[in-house]
Amino acid sequence: MSLPLSKERSMRTQVAIIGAGPAGLLLSHLLHRRGIESIILETRSRTAIETTIRAGVLEQGTVDLMKELGVGERMEREGFRHEGTILRFDGKDRRIDFRDLTGKSVVVYAQHEVIKDLVAARLAQGGEVHFDVSDVEILNVDTDSPSARFRDAQGEIRTLEPDFVAGCDGTQSVARNSMPRDLIKGHERLYPFGWLGILCEAPPSSSELIYALNNRGFALVSTRSPEIQRMYLQCDPLDKIENWSDDRIWSELSTRLSTRDGWTLNEGTIFSKVIVGMRSFVSEPMQFGRLFLAGDAAHVVPPTGAKGLNLAAADVRVLAHALAYHYRSGRDDLLQTYGATALRRIWKAQRFSNWMTSMLHRFPDTDEFQQQLQIAELDYVTGSRAASTALAENYVGLPLEMESV
Ligand code: FAD
Ligand code: DHB
Repeated sequence: MSLPLSKERSMRTQVAIIGAGPAGLLLSHLLHRRGIESIILETRSRTAIETTIRAGVLEQGTVDLMKELGVGERMEREGFRHEGTILRFDGKDRRIDFRDLTGKSVVVYAQHEVIKDLVAARLAQGGEVHFDVSDVEILNVDTDSPSARFRDAQGEIRTLEPDFVAGCDGTQSVARNSMPRDLIKGHERLYPFGWLGILCEAPPSSSELIYALNNRGFALVSTRSPEIQRMYLQCDPLDKIENWSDDRIWSELSTRLSTRDGWTLNEGTIFSKVIVGMRSFVSEPMQFGRLFLAGDAAHVVPPTGAKGLNLAAADVRVLAHALAYHYRSGRDDLLQTYGATALRRIWKAQRFSNWMTSMLHRFPDTDEFQQQLQIAELDYVTGSRAASTALAENYVGLPLEMESV
């Protein structure tokens, strides 16, 4: 739907950023550090984006980025550094030692805490973030004068007149959908299962994350604080959360996480439950004219490798570098190769996420033979230093490749 042109107020900026998720907020910080102005448009309220429960694992590179941007203080104080992870299968634990195998580690710090830190710092710097906007439209992307029209929180129609538009607006991306339809190529894989995620008040059951495969399916033990724990279990993606009583969740988690040496799960009060579907998705190209896509707007990974947020962060590092080069030199070489550079990492993260997902979940057609192969693969991955290193270096984050000029 096109909005009427009357009573429109327009604002100039260098980069219009659509979406205040990790991609959009990190991009605005990166640009600010390079002296480039941006304005963010976000359809949800500040409270909504600061309380939505999502990912929890930050790769070493994302942690370093938060510190470099001056927003890492609370993460360093309240996040948990994990130097390894547990793979639990056949009733036994095997540890992958990230520090020993790669010299790196990860930090467990919830995505909404990252969002809170990024929003607070951006607003304190005088950054402009318009929350509660609606009817966002991206226009003239194939010209040198793209624009983003929207209705602000007061219902007034306004227009951003930027040099560039960054589409960081997640999976339903208006930005992606404003590219010519016949140009977009989507690659997708749906998985026949989802994750039921819970938050509960309980002491930690483990000092490291546990990725478990059991005959009844996958389970994951993660954490948020000494008092709050995060756990997931594989379920039917179409199942209703009402079918999962607290007792059923605890019983299923205990069964899937049971070990031969009698490990026990600390139970507590569940205060959040959600079922999410799982898919792999890549949309190409990531650029059309002066419009660039980053994060979930361009790709989605199944969560088993904990890559979604980290991949969004990597995209915007490449994009900010290319935009900074444009404003410094007047040249568009890096903007033109942005998509190709980002996609090399994206496909590697897709590969890793798909591999972790296939290794750790029961598929509806998993037969006895396939089950034995899965156990053999887990046995090999945890038993071979070379294979453990391959898992570890992907989990902590592959090095960021950026074109230099
Ligand atoms: P988003 O975080 O989706 O941010 C996009 C923002 O754009 C949102 O705030 C949205 O409100 C806004 N927006 C949307 N449309 C418009 C518009 N038209 N105009 C303006 N703003 C708009 N990853 C993991 O690694 N582990 C997990 O456990 C995990 N769990 C997840 C659970 C759920 C329910 C979901 C949806 C994702 C999960 N992910 C997980 C993935 C991870 O959270 C994402 O990869 C990450 O949020 C991507 O960041 P982003 O900034 O690209 O997109
Ligand atoms: C969490 C999410 C993941 O996708 C994952 O692989 C590990 C941990 C979490 O939310 O804590």
